[in-house]
Amino acid sequence: MSTTDPDNPLRSPTSPVGPYCSFGGHLNNAELAETLSHHLLSFLGRDPQRAGNRELYKALAYTVRDFLIERWVKTQKEFYARNRKRVYYLSLEFLVGRSLGNSLVNLGLLDRVSETLKEMGYNLAEVREEEEDAALGNGGLGRLAACFLDSMATLGIPAYGYGIRYEYGLFYQRLLDGFQMETPDNWLRYGSPWEFERPWNLYPVKFNGRVYSYQDDQGRLRYEWVDTDEVMAMAHDVLVPGFNNDSVINMRLWSAKAPRDMDLVSFHRGDYVQAVRDVVDSETISKVLYPSDDIREGQELRFKQQYFFVAATFQDILRRYQKKHEDFKQFTDEVAVQLNDTHPAIAIPELMRLLLDEGGLGWEEAWEICVGTFGYTNHTLLPEALETWSVDLFGRILPRHLEIVYEINRRFLEEVAARFPGDQDRLRRMSLIAEGDEPKVRMAHLAIVGSHSTNGVAELHTHLQKTRIFKDFYDLYPERFNNKTNGITQRRWLLKSNPGLAALITEKIGGDWATDLYRLRELEPLAEDGEFRRRWLAVKHDNKRRLAALIDQRCGISVDPAALFDVHVKRLHEYKRQLLNALHVIVLYHRIIGGRAEGFPPRVVIFAGKAAPSYQRAKLIIKLINSVAETVHRDPRVEDRLKVVFIPNYGVSLAEKIIPAADLSEQISTAGTEASGTGNMKFALNGALTIGTMDGANIEMCEEFGRENMFIFGMTAEQVEAARRDPARQPQTVYQENEEIKAAVDALGAGIFSRGDSAIFRPLVDSLLSSDDPYLTLLDLPDYLRCQEEVGRAFDQRESWARKSIFNVARMGKFSTDRTIREYAREIWGLKV
Ligand code: IMP
Repeated sequence: MSTTDPDNPLRSPTSPVGPYCSFGGHLNNAELAETLSHHLLSFLGRDPQRAGNRELYKALAYTVRDFLIERWVKTQKEFYARNRKRVYYLSLEFLVGRSLGNSLVNLGLLDRVSETLKEMGYNLAEVREEEEDAALGNGGLGRLAACFLDSMATLGIPAYGYGIRYEYGLFYQRLLDGFQMETPDNWLRYGSPWEFERPWNLYPVKFNGRVYSYQDDQGRLRYEWVDTDEVMAMAHDVLVPGFNNDSVINMRLWSAKAPRDMDLVSFHRGDYVQAVRDVVDSETISKVLYPSDDIREGQELRFKQQYFFVAATFQDILRRYQKKHEDFKQFTDEVAVQLNDTHPAIAIPELMRLLLDEGGLGWEEAWEICVGTFGYTNHTLLPEALETWSVDLFGRILPRHLEIVYEINRRFLEEVAARFPGDQDRLRRMSLIAEGDEPKVRMAHLAIVGSHSTNGVAELHTHLQKTRIFKDFYDLYPERFNNKTNGITQRRWLLKSNPGLAALITEKIGGDWATDLYRLRELEPLAEDGEFRRRWLAVKHDNKRRLAALIDQRCGISVDPAALFDVHVKRLHEYKRQLLNALHVIVLYHRIIGGRAEGFPPRVVIFAGKAAPSYQRAKLIIKLINSVAETVHRDPRVEDRLKVVFIPNYGVSLAEKIIPAADLSEQISTAGTEASGTGNMKFALNGALTIGTMDGANIEMCEEFGRENMFIFGMTAEQVEAARRDPARQPQTVYQENEEIKAAVDALGAGIFSRGDSAIFRPLVDSLLSSDDPYLTLLDLPDYLRCQEEVGRAFDQRESWARKSIFNVARMGKFSTDRTIREYAREIWGLKV
C-alpha cells in the first residue's frame, strides 16, 4: 500500500524530493504563515484565527499570485531584452480548470504550503476544493489551449494566450430524473484571485456602420469604416507559470465594457434607464461561453464575440510591436499568430484592414505580411462543425471586413483559375463564399488562404484533411499542410493529478520525466519486476478507493474498488458513441440475468460528460444511460457484478479525480470522426488500458504501445467510408443475425429501461437501425462485444494487465504537449527551441 502524502507526489517515504522542488525556498514556514495571515486580514478583512477554508483558499491564492507576478515582470523584461519573436495563441476557449494546485506544483511550493497549512490546522486538499473551475471552454479544443500555455511557459517561449473572460463559463450540469438540467456557471460570483485587471489596457472595438471611400492626396483610393458603434475591451491577465524555470507568461482575457460617452448621450436626454440598458447590451458580448462543441452556432452574438476579442488582441499586438518599430517591415520576424480553429479567423481581414486602411500599405505588401503571420489549426472532420457566417450578417456587423473578404476571394479565385483553367466546379468548391439562397462566408477557406500553415491534430486527421475535406486546397498549396499531433501536459495530468503514481515513478527513475516525458521509457524493464507491479497496482487501487468514495457521495451508488473500472468520460456526442457503450452494458446485463456471464470480472461502467443544451439526441443518450443504471441496480439478480454510474458535471477538476482511477479507457468514436482526442492520452498516462477504434491519435498511441498492449476493434476510417456506400452492409442485418444485439435493441424499444414507456428511446432505436446512421454503431457492435470479452479475460490476469499498463505509460513520451509545442515553434512559428 502506498503511503504517499496525497498532496505531494514528490514526497514518498523512500524518495527524496526531486531536484525540481528546489525553489520557493526563500520563504520559511513561519514567514509563509505570516503572509497568509496578512492576506486574510488586509485583503479579505478576516480575523486570521477565525478563517474558514474558503478564506484560506483565497489568502493562499493571493500569496501564490505574489510569487507569480514577481516572476512575470522578470520574464517579460527578459523577453524585451532578448528581443525574440513572440507567439500569440488566439483561442475562443481556454479550459483551465483550477489554478492553485497546478501553480504550487510548478513553483515547487507544494511541500512548504502543505506543511505550513498543517501547522496552522488546515488541510491543503480540503482548501483546494474551495476553488471554482475556470470552465472557459467546451472540451478538447479549450483544454488543449490550456495545456499549450503550460508547455509554452515551461519551454520559455515568449508567448501569450488571448481569449475572452466569460462571466459565465460552461453551464453546470445536474441530473433530474436522469435528464440533464443546465444551470449557469457563475464562476466569478466571489471574484477570481488569479486575475489582474488591467484597466489601462482598454481598447475600443467597432461594429456596424458603413464604409466611406475617398481619394487621398496621392490619388489612391482609400477606405474608412465610419458611423460605427463602439464597445470597449478591457484586459485581465491570468498568469501561467512554467515548471521549475521561473518563467511566467500570461493569458490575456478581454471583457466588454460600455464606453463612457455611450451612456452620456441617453443620460443627457434624461433617459437614465435606456442609458443603463445600452451599457448592459454592450457588456453582454463577454457574458457567456457558447456551450456547443463540434456543432455550429450561427448566432450573431457569437460572431461579435469573435471579432471583439480579435480586434482587441490586434490592437495590443500592434501596441507592443510599435514600441520598437515605425513600419511593418519586421512584423513577421517578430510576430506569429496561431488561430485555434476558425473562431478567430476574422483576424485575417482585420489585420488586412489595419495594414491597408490604417497603415497605408498596398494590397500585395499587406497580404504577404498577413499570410506570413498566421498559422491555422483545424480541429474537426465533421462537415457540420465547419464554421460559416451568412454574408448578410457578416456585412451588417463588419462591412469593411466583408469587402476585404470579397477582394481576397477575387484574387484567390484568379489564382485557382490560372492553375486549373476551365475547372468551374473547382472554383465553386474552393470559393470563400458558398453561393445559394443565403450566401455564406466559409471561415475554414478564409483561414487556409490567409495563412502559411494549416495543421491537423493527429496523423490520420491531417491525412483526411489532405485527401477529403481540404483536398482542393492541398492540391493548390501542398506546402502549407502539416501535422501536429496533440499532446497533454504531464505536469497537470500526472504530477498533480496522480501523486501516488508520480511518486512511484520518481522513486524509480528520478523526476526528469516532468520536463522530458520520453524518460518514462526507463520504466519498461520494471514491468518484469513483480514487486514494482504490485506497487503499481496498489497505487491504482488507492485511486479507485478515492473515486468510489466520490461516487458514493455524489451519486449515492456504492461500488467495489476491486471491480473493473470501465470509464467513458468526454463530451456527449453521437460520433463519440456513448450509445455503443450503453449497448454493451445492456448486453452484459442480459448475460448476467440469463446466467451467461460466469468467469467475467465485475464491472463498474462510469460515464460523465455534458451535452450541448440544444443537442436533443445527445441529451437522450444521457437519459438512457441513467435509465439503464436504474434498471440494473434495481434488479437483485445482478448483485455487485455490474454497476452503471453517470457522474454529473464533468469538468477538468472532476477529470483529475476520475482518470487516475480508471482501469479501462473508452475511446470508441467512429473511425474518421475524432480529430485527435486528448482524453485518450490522459488515461494512458495514468495507467489505464485503452479500448478503442483506429481513430484520431489512438492510431499513434497504438504505434507507440504495440497493438498487443491495447484493445483495438471496429472498422478503420477507410472501411467506414466503404461501408457508408455499400448497400450490403446494413445495421438491419447485424440486428437480425445477432441474437444478443437484437435483444438489446428490442429491450430499448420495448421500454424495459423506461418503466414501460416504449416511446422515449424510439429515436435512438430508429437511428441505430437506419441505413443512414452516420456513426455505424450497430455495424461496429459485434466486434466491440468481442473486444470487451477480451478485456474481461485480460483483467483477470492481473500480472499481465499490470505489465501492459506499465508499457503504456513507459511509451507515452510522444504525447507531451512539450513535444507538440516544440514542433509548432520550429515548424510553424519559426522559433528556435
Ligand atoms: P507589455 O508587453 O507592454 O504588455 O508589457 C508587459 C510587461 O513587460 C510590463 O508590465 C513590463 O514589466 C514589461 N515591459 C513592457 N515594455 C517593456 C520594455 O520596453 N522593456 C522592458 N520591459 C518592458
